[in-house]
Amino acid sequence: MTMNLEFLFLSQDDVNRCGGADMKTMIDIIEKVISLHDKGDYVLPTKSTLRWGGLDAETTSGRINSMPGFIGGDIQASGIKWISSAPQNPFKYNLPRAAGVIVLNNPETLLPESIMDGTLISAMRTGAVSGVVAKHLAKEDSKVLGLIGAGVQNRTQLKAIQAVCPNIDRVKVADLSLDRAQKFCDEMALEVKDVTFEIVSGAEEAVRGSDIFITATVTEKPIVKKDWVDKGSLHIHVGSHECEFDVIDQADKVVVDDWEELKHRGVETISIMYSEGKFDPSNIHAELGSIVNGKKAGRENDEERIYFNSVGMGIEDVAVAKYIYDQAKAKGIGQALNLWNKPAFV
Ligand SMILES: NC(=O)c1ccc[n+]([C@@H]2O[C@H](COP(=O)([O-])OP(=O)(O)OC[C@H]3O[C@@H](n4cnc5c(N)ncnc54)[C@H](O)[C@@H]3O)[C@@H](O)[C@H]2O)c1
Repeated sequence: MTMNLEFLFLSQDDVNRCGGADMKTMIDIIEKVISLHDKGDYVLPTKSTLRWGGLDAETTSGRINSMPGFIGGDIQASGIKWISSAPQNPFKYNLPRAAGVIVLNNPETLLPESIMDGTLISAMRTGAVSGVVAKHLAKEDSKVLGLIGAGVQNRTQLKAIQAVCPNIDRVKVADLSLDRAQKFCDEMALEVKDVTFEIVSGAEEAVRGSDIFITATVTEKPIVKKDWVDKGSLHIHVGSHECEFDVIDQADKVVVDDWEELKHRGVETISIMYSEGKFDPSNIHAELGSIVNGKKAGRENDEERIYFNSVGMGIEDVAVAKYIYDQAKAKGIGQALNLWNKPAFV
């Protein structure tokens, strides 16, 4: 019996070659995860956050999240994503705000079997969650998409929305940085066809008249106001404290991914409201999984304002990582690295 332990190292390029940037595949995986989440076939220890300072450090010096999870069904994956966030990175160093790795563990021995880039996977799975959301909660004929924040996340958000709402033909982009907005439009126009991109003056213009609008910024102060939100729109809230409290109060349906996780997170609008005693959890229409599994209604008419907030779950990352690992093994991609030849002790 061999005693050496090899694990597979997968770079971002390897993850990409294994299909990590294929949004349709990501949406299928994530929809399955969300369904299993509703069925209770998962283990999700609370995300722990390492930061220097208080909650406001999230938008200044940054933080590192550790996100373990096990997901069951026919996925059977366990592991952890370790992901940093430094909002200054794109501006100061021309580096991404977020970067991370995922460790995948063997289901039988529980030994680490792969370490891979988690940066691409994290952005893709966050987009894919919104793809699942839009599939169930956007107006069927959604045409106009407003994006607030011209960063990494709204790139994958855009890809996901286009994958499930093929009639989107106008994309409005708002960012505090005009350079970021321009770069976003130039780069995404090469990837996303059949839409017109328009840089708008601010959040108000991006929200008004949009069938779907997505807030994915690192703002400390709310940027979306109640009066801007049209009837029938879907607001996908990806970032931090991005809307005024009454935007959520006004929504006909409030949907979240996992309330237990979200309520303790402390940086999203809805968890701030909750901690201040200003949000009653009985006002949550559903967790996304119960809509995916048909237990709760999704969108019921074209008048409803629907608000969705995701906290993000480690089970999404490990599920995608498992898919990538299986692809890598099948295609012979990646670099086998030795953790030991013979364990020091048994
Ligand atoms: N819910 C989830 O699962 C999940 C997953 C990943 C990231 N996120 C969150 O998404 C957010 C965006 O992440 P990213 O990787 O795209 O960051 P990024 O740094 O790449 O982009 C953020 C953009 O927001 C812009 N911005 C900041 N304040 C703004 C304001 N007031 N109005 C308009 N634009 C503003 C910045 O200029 C920047 O271009 C972060 O808050 C992150 O924590 C959530």
